[in-house]
Amino acid sequence: MKVLVVGGGGREHALAWKASQSKLVDEVLVAPGNAGTAAETGLRNVDVAADDIDALLALARQEQVALTIVGPEAPLAAGIVDRFRAAGLKCFGPDAAAARLESSKAFAKDFMARHGIPTAAYAVVTEVEAGLEQVQAMQFPVVLKADGLAAGKGVVIVDDLDQARTTLSDMLSGQAFGEAGHQVVIEEFLRGEEASFIVIADGEKMLPLASSQDHKRRDDGDLGPNTGGMGAYSPAPVVNDAVHAQIIEQVIAPTLAGMIADGCPFTGFLYAGVMLTEQGPKVLEFNVRFGDPETQPVLMRLKSDLVQTLLQTLDGQLDTLRLDWDPRVALGIVMAAGGYPDGYAKGTPISGLEGKLPADLKVFHAGTALDDQGQVVTSGGRVLCVTALGEDVVEAQRRALAGCAKIAFDGGFYRRDIGHRALMR
Ligand code: AMP
Ligand code: GLY
Repeated sequence: MKVLVVGGGGREHALAWKASQSKLVDEVLVAPGNAGTAAETGLRNVDVAADDIDALLALARQEQVALTIVGPEAPLAAGIVDRFRAAGLKCFGPDAAAARLESSKAFAKDFMARHGIPTAAYAVVTEVEAGLEQVQAMQFPVVLKADGLAAGKGVVIVDDLDQARTTLSDMLSGQAFGEAGHQVVIEEFLRGEEASFIVIADGEKMLPLASSQDHKRRDDGDLGPNTGGMGAYSPAPVVNDAVHAQIIEQVIAPTLAGMIADGCPFTGFLYAGVMLTEQGPKVLEFNVRFGDPETQPVLMRLKSDLVQTLLQTLDGQLDTLRLDWDPRVALGIVMAAGGYPDGYAKGTPISGLEGKLPADLKVFHAGTALDDQGQVVTSGGRVLCVTALGEDVVEAQRRALAGCAKIAFDGGFYRRDIGHRALMR
């Protein structure tokens, strides 16, 4: 059968790579893909944008695609699953109503309040002055979040009133994030260690994936601005058996039940970004898709057949499934373009990608493209995710860093401390 993966980042390279290993699959189409998916056996890039739902639907029909897996949030929020379902095509992900868990932070906060799911205290505002009043009633630092989709960059942690005023006016004027910033969620700052908890959900039941931890800040030591994610590893040792059970009981189960109660059951990858606080897990955000870069290390550890798992989930057989994991640690380091998460150059040639890699190292492409001469060049802020397996975090980190050291492009940079919280334990 043919599978279609929608998207062109590191997550989609990993999803397509894993899907192509399925015994059920002859070919994986990737729309639009990147230079990494272009080079992979069993994969074929198709020049269709990830948010062009009409063209994706036409492609799936024409190629008789048996399963579509949607990587990014934008097409999910725009209703790709609704459209495919109406056309009788299998498409793994939530419909637009369920995708509001990610596409509107105000919706997600109100949802959590309604269903007793632990999260930071908050207020939603649409005016700067009202926002400043809320901020003054809280203790600094305070967290300001643009309501809509902002590619992981719509969160600003402010330390004083001046910064709060500037950030609120930038967001609310539409200057910083356009339409996505017209409502702002103001949140209490939570302390603790973060973990990414991702499950496969079929509307009612769930199958947890291996735990992982992302590194949102740009610089070593978790300093610098927030980004989409500079690296991730799996498993996250902070998610021990007790924490795992707590997250399922206090967060995932009530979320799935709440979505049913609200008339929009959730099917797809449900991602809870949680802060493990002294009072237990609290939700920082929901994503309605697999994480990027968490997908890269998590799928590197998955031994089960991904395509079969997703097809059986859509067929209502989730409770008969279990997943097998490589017991080793997987750790991925993002190589980013100079300037990221702000403006950065595109079209910079990348060297060091040739040659066969050992089985425990994989270079997932994210923002890459092929130029007219067939040379791999940068095309995004997060360029590559160099991912390695190792017996422990030290070994996985060493192998991933050695992989990064062989690759170079002008202005490129990466963190050298991915996995540091696990190492400290
Ligand atoms: P979000 O997109 O909502 O997950 O926010 C991005 C990142 O900002 C999170 O992964 C956290 O590192 C940080 N963050 C978000 N909300 C809070 C909060 N209430 N307290 C502390 N840090 C937060
Ligand atoms: N790594 C966080 C995300 O995918 O949003």
